[in-house]
Amino acid sequence: MSSSHKTTVGDIESEVLAFTAGRDVELDHALIEVDCIGSAAHVTMLAGMPVDPPLFAQDDVRNVIRELVAIMRQARAGSFSITLDDQDVHLAVERTLTKRLGDLGKKIHTARSRNDQVAVDLRLFAKQQLAEAMDETVRLAGVLLTFAETHHDVPMVGRTHMQPAMPSSVGLWASSFVDALLDDLALLKGAYDLNNQSPLGSAASYGVPLPIDRERVSALLGFARPIHNVLYANNARGKTESVILFALSQVMLTLSRLAQDLMLFTMPEFGYFSLPAEYCTGSSIMPQKKNPDVLELVRAKSSRVLAHAVGVYDIVKAAPSGYNRDLQEAKEPFMDGLNTTRSSLRIMSLLMEKLVVNPDALLKGFSPDVFATDRALELVGEGMPFRDAYHHVKAHLAELEDMDPAEAIAKKRHLGATAGLDFAQYKKRIEAVTSAVASDRNGFHQAVSKLLGVEFPSLEK
Ligand code: ARG
Repeated sequence: MSSSHKTTVGDIESEVLAFTAGRDVELDHALIEVDCIGSAAHVTMLAGMPVDPPLFAQDDVRNVIRELVAIMRQARAGSFSITLDDQDVHLAVERTLTKRLGDLGKKIHTARSRNDQVAVDLRLFAKQQLAEAMDETVRLAGVLLTFAETHHDVPMVGRTHMQPAMPSSVGLWASSFVDALLDDLALLKGAYDLNNQSPLGSAASYGVPLPIDRERVSALLGFARPIHNVLYANNARGKTESVILFALSQVMLTLSRLAQDLMLFTMPEFGYFSLPAEYCTGSSIMPQKKNPDVLELVRAKSSRVLAHAVGVYDIVKAAPSGYNRDLQEAKEPFMDGLNTTRSSLRIMSLLMEKLVVNPDALLKGFSPDVFATDRALELVGEGMPFRDAYHHVKAHLAELEDMDPAEAIAKKRHLGATAGLDFAQYKKRIEAVTSAVASDRNGFHQAVSKLLGVEFPSLEK
């Protein structure tokens, strides 16, 4: 038996409604606040539109924005609901405004479609999430840097093919991940900048026959600029999310490899590092177990985030121009990718702060052959051609018995080697990212505070 539901945009058979709304009714809770911010900018712009009579008087704008702020506060208190009949956050907010303000509520969707509305919501959401993710990445880079500096002169066997290769240090190992995270931060910033453009005014995908001011709306929301072409403004949905997810997947790649190294080096057979017991989990049958489940989950979650990136890419790869409902399916993996990466970053910072270094175990890892290459290069310094030195050392490995790991790592003084690590340079680069993120965030908070007439994000008067 089929029943139909009355929605703001027509009667829809109940199963069709449930199927098409999908998880939006839950997921859109994360978008309530940004939806209200987007609407505040849209209404402000509409009030200035040169039409006679004006669409909104200044008092109307104030009333609408006051109600939008009330909805934001309700959302924070957990008391704003999105019903299945609403389908999504956009119509839930419109319904609420119409209930409270009558015709004013019915007017706010002028010159706009849910297509550009959800696109702007996702960009505002991503802007904030990415700023947090960048801060969390910076935090982990900082923890790794402190760890690297503290243990910069602790010798550690460097490996290739997982086999002992050459003398290295804990400082070199740890700061290699600082470098990786700085690369990842450049990708995140690139994704942030791409995301930082306003799609509003695209409407259904093709603009509107009204003199809207797309630049004004973009500036009100603190975006760098509007996306120029209205069709692209819509087509960029999904592409933008996939770019962000691919950047996040690079962060996860770094975390996964750090996790893998830690799993290896905390094995009792190595014992280079250890994790406090409360950062491990036990077994329901084996009483002695202390497992690095966190690290295993981070490793698996890197697959998850990459799968989301590929999944979203795949959703849009054959999407015809103009809005298609397929885009809605990108929302869940997008939100999950951000969430998963952010929680992985936080847990890895926590773990790295507590990681214990065991210098004795690290020293035990040095078998004499680890010094073979260093010895050959020493002979080169005395005038022997490299290939001859190589064969000489290969034939006299026993001569390497008395080499000293600490001395060996102190001898590599060139740029970026064990004794040539420039920690100040890392600090400067980390600080540069920190202040860039802070200034972007402040700019956004200021724009939104001005728009809403209350402090954002606190929402206090
Ligand atoms: N929830 C929808 C989405 O995420 C909003 C846009 C709906 N647009 C439409 N033409 N049905 O895509």
